[in-house]
Amino acid sequence: MTKTTLKSLKIGKYTIKYPIIQGGMGVGISWDELAGNVSLNGALGTISCVGTGYYKKMHFAEKIVRSKPFEAINFYSKNALFEIFKNARKICGDSPLAANILYAINEYGRVVKDACEAGANIIITGAGLPTNMPEFTKNFPDVALVPIVSSAKALRILCKRWKERYNRIPDAVIVEGPLSGGHQGCKYEDCFKEEFQLENILADVLIEAKNQGDIPVIAAGGIWDRGDIDRFMALGASGVQMATRFLGTYECDAKAYLDIMPQIKKDDIKLIKSPVGYPARALNVGILRALENGTAPKIACVSNCVQPCHRGVEAKKVGYCIADRLGDASNGNLETGLYFSGSNGYRIDKIIRVKELIGELVRD
Ligand SMILES: Cc1cc2nc3c(=O)[nH]c(=O)nc-3n(C[C@H](O)[C@H](O)[C@H](O)COP(=O)(O)O)c2cc1C
Repeated sequence: MTKTTLKSLKIGKYTIKYPIIQGGMGVGISWDELAGNVSLNGALGTISCVGTGYYKKMHFAEKIVRSKPFEAINFYSKNALFEIFKNARKICGDSPLAANILYAINEYGRVVKDACEAGANIIITGAGLPTNMPEFTKNFPDVALVPIVSSAKALRILCKRWKERYNRIPDAVIVEGPLSGGHQGCKYEDCFKEEFQLENILADVLIEAKNQGDIPVIAAGGIWDRGDIDRFMALGASGVQMATRFLGTYECDAKAYLDIMPQIKKDDIKLIKSPVGYPARALNVGILRALENGTAPKIACVSNCVQPCHRGVEAKKVGYCIADRLGDASNGNLETGLYFSGSNGYRIDKIIRVKELIGELVRD
C-alpha cells in the first residue's frame, strides 16, 4: 500500500481517493484507455468529448467527407462517445469518471447531454464561461458541474448567473494558469505577466470561491510533481488538475506522443494563435513546421467544430484548421498533426505507466 497524507477530493456526490484530476485532452488524447486507467488508480480520469468522430478510425461517424467527420453532429459523435465510456468503464468500473466539454464548441448543450447519458459523473467545461451549463444537466441531478476559470471575476459572474437562473453554484472550480497545455484563458501577452501566473490568480479565486459558498478550488497549469501538489494544496487548493505528465504514459490514447515527448526540448514548446480565439501552447512539430515551410494543407471547413472559427474564417487567418490538425495528431500524422503540450513537456524523459505515475505523485 502506498502511504499518503493527501486528502481525498469531494466533488458533488463523488469522492476521489487522491486529489488529482487528469485534465481532458482532445482530440483523442484522453479517451477510454487513459481516463479509465487514471480512475482505476484512484485519481479522476477525464474523457475528452471533442472529435469523438475520429475514434477507432472514424468507425462511429455516420458521414465522412474528405476523410473527416462531417459537421458537428459527426465530429462530436454520440455513438463514439458511448463506446468510449463503455470501454473506460470496463477498465475502472464504477469509479468516478469526468467528461471534458469545451464551451466554445458547436452543439455544446447536445454534447453535455450525450456525456450525461453515456455515464459521466462530472462535467468539466473550459474555453468560455458556461453560464447556461446547468440547463443541459437538469435531468441528471447527480452529475457534478465543474467550470474552468482563469480569474476571480469570471467565477463571480458565473456564480451570479447560476444562482439567479438555476439556484445553484458549481460543485468545484478549476483555476488554470498560463503554463498549461492547449488553449489559454488569457491574452497572449498576459500569459507572461506575473499577475496572471497560477499562484496569483489562485489566491483571488480562493477568496471568491469561499464567498460564493465554499466551492472547492482545483489548481491547474504547470503542476509537475508531488512538491508542486503540496505547494498548491498548502496555498488552499483542494486538489490539482494535471495533463502534460500524462502525455508521458503508455496509456495516453494518442500514441504519437509516446515517441515525440522524450525528444522535446524547452524551446520546442510555443504559444501560438488558434482559430478558437485564444492563444494555445503546442509543440513546434507537425503543422507548426509545415506552416514555417509553406507545406501546410489547404483549409476547407468540413467538421464545423467551434463557434468562434465561423466555418473556417478564423482558420484561414491563422493558417490551419484546428479540427483537421488535432484529428491528424490523434491519428499519429507527424507531418500535419497539431500537438499540444504544457510548458513542462520537455521534462518527460521516459514513458511510464499511469499506475507508476500516480504512485509517484501520491507517495509520501
Ligand atoms: C495535449 C493537451 C490537450 C489539451 N486539450 C484540452 C481540451 O480538449 N480541453 C480542455 O479543457 N483542456 C485541454 N487541455 C488542458 C488540460 O486539460 C489541463 O488543464 C492543463 O494542461 C494543465 O496543465 P499541465 O498540462 O501543465 O498539467 C489540454 C492540455 C494538453 C497538454
